[in-house]
Amino acid sequence: MTELLLVGVGQMGRPYLEAALRIGCTVRAVESRAAFPGLPVGTGADFYQVDNGLDESWLLGALQAAEQGPPQGVVAFAEAHVTAAALLQDRLGVPGPSLHAATISRNKGLQRMSCAARGVSQPEFLLVPSIADAREWMAERLPVVVKPLTFGGSVGVEQVSTIEELDSAIERRGEGKLLVEGAVSGPEFSWEALVRDGSVLFENVTAKETTEPPYFVELTHRCGHRFEDPKVAQQVQEFTRLVLDAIGMRTGLAHLEFRLGPDGPVLMEVAVRTPGDHIAEAVCLTYGFDLYEGVVRLALGLPLDDLIQREPVQFAAVHHPDCPPGRITGIEGLSEIEAHPFVQRVSLNRGIGDLVKPLSSSSERIGYALVVAPTPEAREETLAFIQARLRITTVLDG
Ligand SMILES: Nc1ncnc2c1ncn2[C@@H]1O[C@H](COP(=O)(O)OP(=O)(O)OP(=O)(O)O)[C@@H](O)[C@H]1O
Ligand SMILES: [Mg+2]
Repeated sequence: MTELLLVGVGQMGRPYLEAALRIGCTVRAVESRAAFPGLPVGTGADFYQVDNGLDESWLLGALQAAEQGPPQGVVAFAEAHVTAAALLQDRLGVPGPSLHAATISRNKGLQRMSCAARGVSQPEFLLVPSIADAREWMAERLPVVVKPLTFGGSVGVEQVSTIEELDSAIERRGEGKLLVEGAVSGPEFSWEALVRDGSVLFENVTAKETTEPPYFVELTHRCGHRFEDPKVAQQVQEFTRLVLDAIGMRTGLAHLEFRLGPDGPVLMEVAVRTPGDHIAEAVCLTYGFDLYEGVVRLALGLPLDDLIQREPVQFAAVHHPDCPPGRITGIEGLSEIEAHPFVQRVSLNRGIGDLVKPLSSSSERIGYALVVAPTPEAREETLAFIQARLRITTVLDG
């Protein structure tokens, strides 16, 4: 019997479990104590508990699960699972992104260094032990972006545009290793790809909308984006391959983010794990095949030819509605939106009386809507419909 070991499941990793069981694997899955109670028992999967969500803890769980007999494949779900999975893949000699790519995925400083050495287009950057060490560098290059090396969800990422903001950032942020970068302008995209032995088997471009500086919180993702200008399409093709080469990507799912500047794509970051914000589900809907099954098959060394579709069959988007900060006093239009034929799902995580903070990271968003439309135009109309009809009113606490 083929066995798959899944490091991390959460909610959004469930489709890996389902895909593996569907294709007849037995599954061992590692999950943290906090998420353990929500796991789907009785599905035939065996679950192994780890103490907490730290990278190191996942490794112990993954090794303990592997002790029961070596699995034929190992899949990492999210960013914190990448290192444990790569260590195990390396030890067992099964397919994976590579220890090199996984290590780089977990550290934005290593990303900048390895990409600089390969000539990947990326912002000017400086890595410093403490933000105060970068004061002069930043002051000469404003606006700049300051970011921690290992967080996600835009936590701790901020644009600094004036000397006053610079001094306030130095005061607020204190000690600790940090990356500072020139601020790149231009529209932002992500790129999701299934890769085997460094070769791209499937790829998708997602157009992004974020909040304005200083915090750049992701609000809308539109999958199946096509660059109309063939020169840009070619640049993106070459750029994405160069990034994979720079990080030493072997086999699995790659997710990179870039801005399109006047001279072409500029790297924001790269990761070898499932993209967040339901993008993987939106990719599945857009292309009409199960991307998660694709990842499971790659991990097990199985063929993909009869699975993947390279052209969109419909157009999915994930939209995170926003509202003014304050306490929620009213939510209108929800049932109208849910009834829209191109709205697949709406999920709000706040209700009347709940507090909404000013948006500075992804976790502060109040929910999302998943849209699936037959054409890009119908998708735009649906997104406009949501924005017009969903009214979330707030008051500031007195
Ligand atoms: N040098 C830069 N120039 C312009 N914008 C930037 C720069 N660096 C980061 N950003 C913006 O900040 C966002 C978050 O940065 P980054 O992706 O590095 O952090 P993150 O916490 O990993 O984000 P997430 O997990 O949400 O993808 C980017 O998607 C981009 O919009
Ligand atoms: Mg990012």
